[in-house]
Amino acid sequence: MRVTVIGTGYVGLVTGACLAYLGHRVSCVDSDAEKIGVLAKGDVPIFEPHLDQLLALARENGAIDFTTDLTLPVRDSDVIFIAVGTPSSPNGSPDLTFLQSAARDIGGAMDAAKLRVVVNKSTVPVGSGNLVEALVRDGIFEGGGSAASVDFAVVSNPEFLQEGCAIGNSLYPDRIVVGDEDPRAAEIMRQLYAPILNQSFTAPDFLPRPYHLHAVPFVRTTATSAEMIKYAANAFLAMKISFANEIANICERVGAEVTQVAAGIGLDSRIGPRFLSAGIGWGGSCFGKDLRALTQTALEYGYRPALLDATQQVNACQRQVVIQKLQEKLFVLKGRTIGLLGLAFKPDTDDLRDAPSLTIAARLIQMGARVRVYDPVAMDACRLQHPELNVRYCRSTTELAQDADALVLVTEWTEFCSLDLAALAECMARPVLIDGRNVLDRAEVLRAGFDYAGVGCAPQRLAQSSANRAAKYLVASGA
Ligand SMILES: NC(=O)c1ccc[n+]([C@@H]2O[C@H](COP(=O)([O-])OP(=O)(O)OC[C@H]3O[C@@H](n4cnc5c(N)ncnc54)[C@H](O)[C@@H]3O)[C@@H](O)[C@H]2O)c1
Repeated sequence: MRVTVIGTGYVGLVTGACLAYLGHRVSCVDSDAEKIGVLAKGDVPIFEPHLDQLLALARENGAIDFTTDLTLPVRDSDVIFIAVGTPSSPNGSPDLTFLQSAARDIGGAMDAAKLRVVVNKSTVPVGSGNLVEALVRDGIFEGGGSAASVDFAVVSNPEFLQEGCAIGNSLYPDRIVVGDEDPRAAEIMRQLYAPILNQSFTAPDFLPRPYHLHAVPFVRTTATSAEMIKYAANAFLAMKISFANEIANICERVGAEVTQVAAGIGLDSRIGPRFLSAGIGWGGSCFGKDLRALTQTALEYGYRPALLDATQQVNACQRQVVIQKLQEKLFVLKGRTIGLLGLAFKPDTDDLRDAPSLTIAARLIQMGARVRVYDPVAMDACRLQHPELNVRYCRSTTELAQDADALVLVTEWTEFCSLDLAALAECMARPVLIDGRNVLDRAEVLRAGFDYAGVGCAPQRLAQSSANRAAKYLVASGA
């Protein structure tokens, strides 16, 4: 099929690259001329594993192009995806400015030649399908056409990909949700996604098909339900993490280990093991924004969503937990040098939107600490997007640790799980390590000579071992 994708961000670019890989002919459109310039040159403006390989294949096959002008692509296309950003506005509801402008532009480019499906992939509040339809009609009218003579249908096709494994999520999804009011549009979507639904495409060498996957469910709903599915899914995932963090905070007080508790409850098939990792909480462009949007929608309908409120509150507090742990270890933070291992909101991405690292760094700086950071991928993005952040960017974990008073593991990059901990501890002013993601082997960290704290660990045993290590440290340092 001939496809246009509007918006070449984390969602649009992945969608375009995957559809091109499946054999469709894709035009990617973005209003950001710089981004399109980078893509047209053969580069990739974001970090997402395997995206460069998939785009290279699509380019080789002449299956993808990049442009700032949607007129010709829209006119040629059977399916037009809207994948523009929908950031939070100050009152918590999503800012639909980009969506509105994209929908109008699509309308302005349409003619009466054929049926086209306009697919809303951006996360939008309930009822936005109607809004998009009305705006496409406005665009047709403003472009001099007559809405009655132009055949189009709007469907909602929410995106569930996770940055860092977005290509796998797109080629091997758990389900494809399509909300529509027009069976012709549903059929076109079914055809578009047939290679994924039947898993009939040849899997790329670099991303083999999961062995158990033979077919993907196609979930057809009303447009409103599809929009709600997206918000409900994100709210549930965020709630699961906040729940794990709430339990972690109780574990610390009663002397239990949250990792053991999570393993114990996660084996219950009604609960499941994923998204139960306690730590410094969730971040990223979606959870916070989508929770605020769903809360706002509920309030507009006269309902106070207590669980959504609590999910956000627990998460906000969780970012403070690291600061408290540093205070417990170092007492005074003013003048201390703290090294943050990781900036990205999660591993395998350069995305810094609502990253806990930014909140933690800003708070530490406010408290008078000197903050250093190291991230394998996201440092350039951070320099560019957060020039106000007064931190020292380090080229290695050794530079980060040299003479520092504490390290905090903020993002669970794989490379942080195989650090030479003893060497790092050796070169620090005080070997304090806070594992904000509970990914390090505690015994190993302790053996390396660190004074350690994780999240949700039994305090009395730790207090004892910390005291022992502190004593050893004092002896070793001759104090
Ligand atoms: N990032 C994720 O992990 C994720 C996952 C699921 C759903 N979503 C949703 O998908 C949507 C897109 O998210 P994203 O992270 O890809 O956003 P993004 O900010 O990375 O990308 C959006 C792109 O749209 C472009 N754009 C804005 N207005 C435009 C217009 N009128 N015409 C052409 N291009 C335009 C921007 O220049 C930008 O490149 C959002 O609604 C988001 O909530 C995101």
